Amino acid sequence: MSTNIYFPPSLQRFEPKRMVFSTWVDHLPFAYDLIEAIRPKMTVELGVYNGLSFFTFCQSLIENDIEGVCYGVDCWEGDVHTDAYDDSIYQDVATHARDHYRGITYLLKMYFNEALNHFEDETVDLLHIDGLHTYEAVQEDFTNWYPKVRPGGIVLFHDVMARIKDFGAWRYFDELQQSQPETFRFDHGFGLGVLRKPGGDRTAPEHPLLQLLFSEDEDERRKLKQLYVHASHFLEARRQANRFKAMAGKGNKKGGQGKTETSDPAAQQA
Ligand SMILES: C[S@@+](CC[C@H](N)C(=O)[O-])C[C@H]1O[C@@H](n2cnc3c(N)ncnc32)[C@H](O)[C@@H]1O
Repeated sequence: MSTNIYFPPSLQRFEPKRMVFSTWVDHLPFAYDLIEAIRPKMTVELGVYNGLSFFTFCQSLIENDIEGVCYGVDCWEGDVHTDAYDDSIYQDVATHARDHYRGITYLLKMYFNEALNHFEDETVDLLHIDGLHTYEAVQEDFTNWYPKVRPGGIVLFHDVMARIKDFGAWRYFDELQQSQPETFRFDHGFGLGVLRKPGGDRTAPEHPLLQLLFSEDEDERRKLKQLYVHASHFLEARRQANRFKAMAGKGNKKGGQGKTETSDPAAQQA
């Protein structure tokens, strides 16, 4: 059993700067901590939609002083699971990227297959697969993009616990767990799968989060799952408390001296 004590940065200081509706919300603390742990130079997300996961990666890069770039690939047309949506979603994401993450974000408005030749093999440190969630689509995205991931790089799969409609990410990830040596699955929310590509430099001391993720000790892995269930509840409770605080602040400004101000981004964007 590891003797490391891990106090995740998300519990210490993470206030999401982008808060929009998405089933990704349960995994924000882990996304923030993973970036801090692996310090990726290049992150690629397949399926950005309104940017909840994407901008959490970006926020963590900035707040943890990591020199890296994030590519977001999406046709921004929707698919059979999200339904079609209009261009306002892309415009909003592009504006947020320009206003907050200029120089570190690149939005590729195209189909995943069209984006493939923009990337060299074995250059991506973190790949997030979150497009269409049928078995066949997830298999195709993984098969096409896995060669782009560097040895030792990380692949995330969203919705690996969603057993609704014709979702099949869960079944594809189950199969990968049988064939790949290093995987981990968060079961809360809609589920998040984590896979580490074999190879890479394993001589340096490993970050405690990576040690826990790929530990062979079942008890450590169980505790890590629990930690991020709590982290997600903690984040939501803190956001609610901030909302109440902001509302109470408004109530105290009787007579209306102009607009109420708060420095809390969660309260501003709730
Ligand atoms: C589930 S949403 C992404 C959710 C997002 N990661 C979040 O944090 O909420 C899936 C997105 O993938 C896009 N998409 C699905 N298949 C695609 C493909 N083959 N090429 C490009 N975009 C695709 C859809 O347009 C949709 O916006």
